Amino acid sequence: MSKIIALFNQAGGVAKTTLTMNLGYHLSMRQHRILLVDIDPQASLTSFMGKEPSSLETTIYDALVPKDDEQFVLPIHKNLHSMDLLPSNIELANAEQELIFAELRELRLSQVLEPVRDNYDLILIDCPPSLGILSHISLVAANYVLVPIQCQFKALKGTDSLLKTVARVRKRLNPQLKIAGFIPTMYQASTSLDNRTLESINEQLGEIATIFPPLPRATAVAEAAELGKPLALCSNKHKLTLQLFDQLAHAMEKMS
Ligand SMILES: Nc1ncnc2c1ncn2[C@@H]1O[C@H](COP(=O)(O)OP(=O)(O)O)[C@@H](O)[C@H]1O
Ligand SMILES: [Mg+2]
Repeated sequence: MSKIIALFNQAGGVAKTTLTMNLGYHLSMRQHRILLVDIDPQASLTSFMGKEPSSLETTIYDALVPKDDEQFVLPIHKNLHSMDLLPSNIELANAEQELIFAELRELRLSQVLEPVRDNYDLILIDCPPSLGILSHISLVAANYVLVPIQCQFKALKGTDSLLKTVARVRKRLNPQLKIAGFIPTMYQASTSLDNRTLESINEQLGEIATIFPPLPRATAVAEAAELGKPLALCSNKHKLTLQLFDQLAHAMEKMS
């Protein structure tokens, strides 16, 4: 049975999608079978993985919103940079409304993933930047939540509601949900503000879960996403970041 990790923070631009793709890649290099799940209507993960979202006929949306189609097959794209991808596109924005009346809607993503769960060692879910139903069903489906936090002023501002959301999901629907850790991102060691933010992250969140070493801001990381592949497969590598991705992959595979 696979571990399911949701990468979650209701703030946008904190590197959730970047981490999902690169962490997945480093886990696959460690011989794990990996499924990446894009549950963001903005579909950045789908594009980062080299697929054009608007050209896809079926996506996670078709899986989440029940239709009377017994022949429905999950639209999983196989072996993209050694990983599988359940993609998304803008059509998923409709799901928020359409799931309101669906039966057992909170379990929808769990139900969707159940038939393929044994095919993978780890499933990584790239959550949208919101506390809405799509993030909610991701936390219900997951065993772990990994939280990227941007090293910038006010980065900690949203963590209260983030932690409340996790606590609510645990209490009502998924008591097994664990916080895998917090990972500071976009860190610039030369900036005193970033260093102060990093200190606050350690002070305020260190008792709740592991704080992983910060991921530096590096142009090569953004370029890799634009090229539609993991950083490790690009010619312009950023060695420290690759080491940190791999350390994180090691920590994720060890989690029990
Ligand atoms: N370490 C990094 N250094 C520089 N740019 C980064 C880094 N990580 C991510 N980015 C860029 O920042 C933007 C936001 O990242 P993304 O992963 O899409 O965040 P989120 O999914 O949280 O919205 C993207 O353009 C991405 O390429
Ligand atoms: Mg994203």
